[in-house]
Amino acid sequence: MRLQNKVALITGASLGFKEGGPSIGSAIAFKFAAEGAKVVAVDVLEEMGQKTIDQIIDNGGEGLFIKTDVSKTNEVKEAINLVKDKYQKLHILVNCAATYEGEIFRNVVDILEDDWKRTIDVNLNGYFRFSKYAIPLILESGGGAIVNISSGAAFKVLKDFCVYPVTKAAINALTRTLAIDFAPQIRTNSICPGFVRIANSEGDRTIQEIKTWVNDIAKTYPLKRVCTVDEIANVALFLASDDSSYVNGECINVDGGRIVSDTHDF
Ligand SMILES: NC(=O)c1ccc[n+]([C@@H]2O[C@H](COP(=O)([O-])OP(=O)(O)OC[C@H]3O[C@@H](n4cnc5c(N)ncnc54)[C@H](O)[C@@H]3O)[C@@H](O)[C@H]2O)c1
Repeated sequence: MRLQNKVALITGASLGFKEGGPSIGSAIAFKFAAEGAKVVAVDVLEEMGQKTIDQIIDNGGEGLFIKTDVSKTNEVKEAINLVKDKYQKLHILVNCAATYEGEIFRNVVDILEDDWKRTIDVNLNGYFRFSKYAIPLILESGGGAIVNISSGAAFKVLKDFCVYPVTKAAINALTRTLAIDFAPQIRTNSICPGFVRIANSEGDRTIQEIKTWVNDIAKTYPLKRVCTVDEIANVALFLASDDSSYVNGECINVDGGRIVSDTHDF
């Protein structure tokens, strides 16, 4: 068990759309719990967040769901206080929560200021806030690891999709600054996935529509398939555990080789 006696907090850890489908945060929560960690799942979605923890407990693990909006400082502080009350310690922080609300498929001229600000406030400032208020407890607990879920969008952009890549590039910069400022007690790294199949992005598509959509995306990846949430959780486990004890300040692409290839069309 790689995370025995560790307490891990994961933001954006609710299960996904409708019935509780796959999400990256919940997959990380399940993986960490299976490795012995006490898991604190944080999300704005209460029912699906509680489902993550119920599933962990059903499988013999331990955990707690805390409804928290990462864009609200008072809620973030309260979440850390609750962790302190319940477990006294915190060793691992995974920043994963992100919103896609609003008209964010727009360029800088067309995007509304409110959509720009909300996306920055959740997707970037949420990582800042949880780092700011969790780090003192991680230090008090003897140190640990931070894993930031970034994106390949930090390196390559899509047309008319301006704010999301800005948050992801900034998360990679945040990762490097945390890695230096809080070493040697805390190692910080980020994961930059390509397309990962999750329930929330499948929306109301039919099963056949989803199959066609995912197959078309898979063709643009050298491995000719898309990534599963479990494949991201495996890398998160590596970065959160002593298996990566000398890895610090890295932003790791987990995209089946897409970013280094010319197999995709733009
Ligand atoms: N799925 C992909 O293809 C992909 C690719 C690259 C990076 N990512 C990143 O992975 C992370 C997880 O996303 P996902 O793909 O699993 O999507 P998801 O929608 O399943 O997960 C995001 C979670 O964040 C929560 N959230 C949104 N706003 C919040 C707030 N204000 N406070 C607290 N929680 C909030 C949502 O409720 C949701 O549960 C994100 O950082 C995303 O940018 C995903």
